[in-house]
Amino acid sequence: MFKDLFAIKPVALATAGAGGAPELQRTLGARQLLLLGVGAIIGAGIFVLSGHAAANHAGPAVLLSFVLAGIACALAGLCYAEFAAMLPVSGSAYSYAYATLGESVAWFIGWNLVLEYLFAASAVAVGWSGYLNSFLASFGMGLPEWLASAPLSVVDGALVHTGALVNLPAVLLIAGLSGLCYVGIRQSAAINGVIVAIKVAVIVLFVAFAAGYVMPEHWTPFIPENEGPGKFGIEGVVRGASIIFFAYIGFDAVSTAAGEAKDPQRTMPIGILGSLAVCTVIYIVFAAVLTGLVPYTELGTPKPVATALEGHPELAWLKTAVEIGAIAGLSSVVLVMLMGQPRIFYAMAQDGLLPKLFGRVHPRHRTPHAGTVVVGTVAALLAGFLPIGLLGDLVSMGTLLAFATVCIGVLVLRHTRPDVPRPFRVPAVWVISLSGTVACLYLFWQVFAEHWELMAAWTVIGLVIYAVYGYRNSRLRSTAA
Ligand code: ALA
Repeated sequence: MFKDLFAIKPVALATAGAGGAPELQRTLGARQLLLLGVGAIIGAGIFVLSGHAAANHAGPAVLLSFVLAGIACALAGLCYAEFAAMLPVSGSAYSYAYATLGESVAWFIGWNLVLEYLFAASAVAVGWSGYLNSFLASFGMGLPEWLASAPLSVVDGALVHTGALVNLPAVLLIAGLSGLCYVGIRQSAAINGVIVAIKVAVIVLFVAFAAGYVMPEHWTPFIPENEGPGKFGIEGVVRGASIIFFAYIGFDAVSTAAGEAKDPQRTMPIGILGSLAVCTVIYIVFAAVLTGLVPYTELGTPKPVATALEGHPELAWLKTAVEIGAIAGLSSVVLVMLMGQPRIFYAMAQDGLLPKLFGRVHPRHRTPHAGTVVVGTVAALLAGFLPIGLLGDLVSMGTLLAFATVCIGVLVLRHTRPDVPRPFRVPAVWVISLSGTVACLYLFWQVFAEHWELMAAWTVIGLVIYAVYGYRNSRLRSTAA
C-alpha cells in the first residue's frame, strides 16, 4: 500500500505518446513560448496588487518585495527549465512530481495546480472586470455594482452575501476565452501575441512618460517604520513579497505547453527563463516609477496605476492607455491559465488519475476540448461569485507548494536518474534547489498562517477524490500489476 502510494512513473513512460489516439500538436516556437510566459505573468499582480502591497505592507520598499519574490521565482524557474526540457509533457509540476516523488505526491501537486491555474483564471477575470467597469464608467457606461461584483465576500473568516447578483463581465470573459481555447492552441497563441504587445507597450509608455514626474521625496522613508505584524518595516517587505509573488505566477505556465512545443529541449528554457527575466526587469522599473509618482499611502486602490496618474492631469491620456493595457493584459493572463489547466488534467487523465473525459483530444482542433469546457464552466462560476482577495490567496498557496515540489524534485531526480539526458541543467543544483524550496515554503507560510482552514479543506477534498477514483484507476499501477 505504502509502496503503491509512492509509485514513481518512469521517465521513459512520462514522455511516451498516447498510443494511436489523437495527440497534442507541436506548433509553438521559442518566441511564442516567451510571449506565452509574458502573457501569463504580467497581469493583476502589477496592475491591481502592487498598490495594495505598497500602501499596506511595504511602502516604497515594495521594490524590494518585487526583488525578493523575483529571486524565489528565479530559483524555481531554473528548476522548471531543467524539468521542462527533460520531460517535455503537458503536465508541468504534476508530471515532474510523478517522475520523482511518487503518485500520491503527484496527485497532491496536480490538485494544487488547480488552485494555481483554474482559480487564477477566475481571480484575474475579477480584476479585469474591475478595470473594465471603471473604464466604461469614465464614459458614463459603467455597469451597476450588482451586476459587476461578487455576491459573496469573506468577513472575519465567514462567507457573507454582499447584495450583488453576479460578476457578469468576469463570467463573459471566461466564457469567450474558453471558446478560443477550445478551437486551438495556435489561434490562442496568436491572439496572445497581440495582447502581449499591447500590454508591454503600455508599460513602456508608462515608464517612459511618467518617469519625468517622479518626485524622489516619495521614496523616503524607503522602508516605513513597522506598525505591527506584516505592516511596514522589514517584516512588511517580506509580507509584501508574499503578495507580490502573485505577479510572477505564470512563467511556469510555459511548461504546460511543453507537449505542444517544437524542439522543447531548446525552447522550454528560453520560454520559461526568458519570460521571467523580462518581467522581473519590467516590474522593478515599474515599481520605482509607481511609488515615485504619489505618496505610497495613496496607492491602496483596486487600480493603483490609474490612481497614481490621476494626480497628474496632463497625463490623462496615459491613464486611459494604462486602463486599456490592463484590460488587454489581464485577459491574456486568463487565456494562458485557461489553456494550462485542461492540459494538466489531460496529463492526469492519461495516467488514469482523472476520468477519461479529460484525456480526450478533439479530432479536428487537436485540443483537450472536454476538459476545456469543464474548466471554463467551473472558472466562470468561481469568477461570477467569489471576491478576488480570497481567490488570490488560494492561488498563491497552491502555486508555492507546486514550486517547492519542483525545486526539491530536481534534486531527487539528479540522484535517482543521473543517466537521463538533461538538455538544460540547473547550476549548483544543491544550493539552488534547496534555497528555492525554502524560499517558496517560507512565502507559502506567510499566506497559510492566515488561511490554513481553506487549504486544509481543499487538501481533504483532493485526498477523497484520489482515494475514490485516482488510486483505483491509476494506469501506472494497473500496468505494473
Ligand atoms: N502573474 C499573474 C498576474 O499577475 C497571475 O495576474
